[in-house]
Amino acid sequence: LITPVILAGGIGSRLWPLSRQAMPKQFLPLLNNENSLLQNTLNRVSGAEFSQPILVCNEQHRFIAKEQSSAANVFGLILEPTGKNTAPAIALAAHYAIQSGLKGPMLVMPADHHIKDFSPLTSQINDAVTLAEQGKLVTFSITPSMAHTGFGYIKQGSKISGSHCFEVAEFKEKPNLATAQKYLAEGGYSWNSGMFLFTPRAYLNELERFAPKIAHNVKVASQFSHDLGFTRPDSKPLEFCPSDSIDYAILERSNNVAVMPVALKWNDVGSFSALASLSKKDSYDNNKSENHTAQNSTNNFVITENDHTVATLGVSDLAIIHTHDATLVANKKELDELPLLLKKLALEH
Ligand code: GDD
Ligand code: MG
Repeated sequence: LITPVILAGGIGSRLWPLSRQAMPKQFLPLLNNENSLLQNTLNRVSGAEFSQPILVCNEQHRFIAKEQSSAANVFGLILEPTGKNTAPAIALAAHYAIQSGLKGPMLVMPADHHIKDFSPLTSQINDAVTLAEQGKLVTFSITPSMAHTGFGYIKQGSKISGSHCFEVAEFKEKPNLATAQKYLAEGGYSWNSGMFLFTPRAYLNELERFAPKIAHNVKVASQFSHDLGFTRPDSKPLEFCPSDSIDYAILERSNNVAVMPVALKWNDVGSFSALASLSKKDSYDNNKSENHTAQNSTNNFVITENDHTVATLGVSDLAIIHTHDATLVANKKELDELPLLLKKLALEH
């Protein structure tokens, strides 16, 4: 069986003030249904080919994580004292899987994706499992639709015979705009979906090779203690663990990576632009919102909490996000700078 490993330790700073430190985006029902992004993710891996999932998140969110994952009957809920990005988080799950005697490969998934139908991936997953069992790190790629700079780009190499997978000729994490545009013009590149399949051993081997400090610290930290359904690593060694993502730490450097293109309708719900693209529009290109009344206003994205009313007059291209204790009014074109604004806020309040 495949062990799903769900990463839910990010903060979602590009969705402030909807996504907050105390309640990051993956725990929110962002897409107007009852389930949070995390619950949608857990539902994706409830099929017969998957064992009970491992969830890795921050200590701070243990109760909301436990509540939202109770229906999925998780195998382990690993709590990090502080987030050190995805490379260490996956390593903790890998050690835990090995120590628990789990035999299958791990399917690593972010908790912040919107995927309508997961079957294009699961229907071909056996090819990825075969490669994973040979020690490969398999990533899943998506056809790009624009020169997005928030994703990893994969240049597909030659086809692996008898498989839906390809060699990876090049992996570039978050290229600048000019480079992303060049990739699209050249062709042959796809987006890294952020989902991966490999055995815990293969992952730890690559980590030891390309990020030995992370490998060492996480290994020492992987003396897990268990309490009331929570699994905690030893926090001291993690303090000294460098912070890095699997993409920068391993995928850009390893030549042991294969890629399986998957025809998923896929969205990283990482920013208001992404949320806006997923929402229905009125005839003036404002998102449909019961609590927004507009006069001579176009292409605005408005979200309000607690039935608060927002009225706009003669304004365009704004994002207006109103929550109980904070309101964001932003030029949509400036939204990439939101993390900078948050830094300023943290300094001034
Ligand atoms: N447990 C844990 N600890 N989870 C974390 C941590 C951490 O320290 N940091 C991030 N995560 C979780 C996030 O909650 C998210 O679910 C997932 O790991 C990925 O992190 P992001 O920060 O959202 O990554 P990204 O979107 O910038 O980039 C990744 O995903 C893209 C596709 O969405 C990369 O893999 C890109 O190459 C890829 O294109
Ligand atoms: Mg993301």
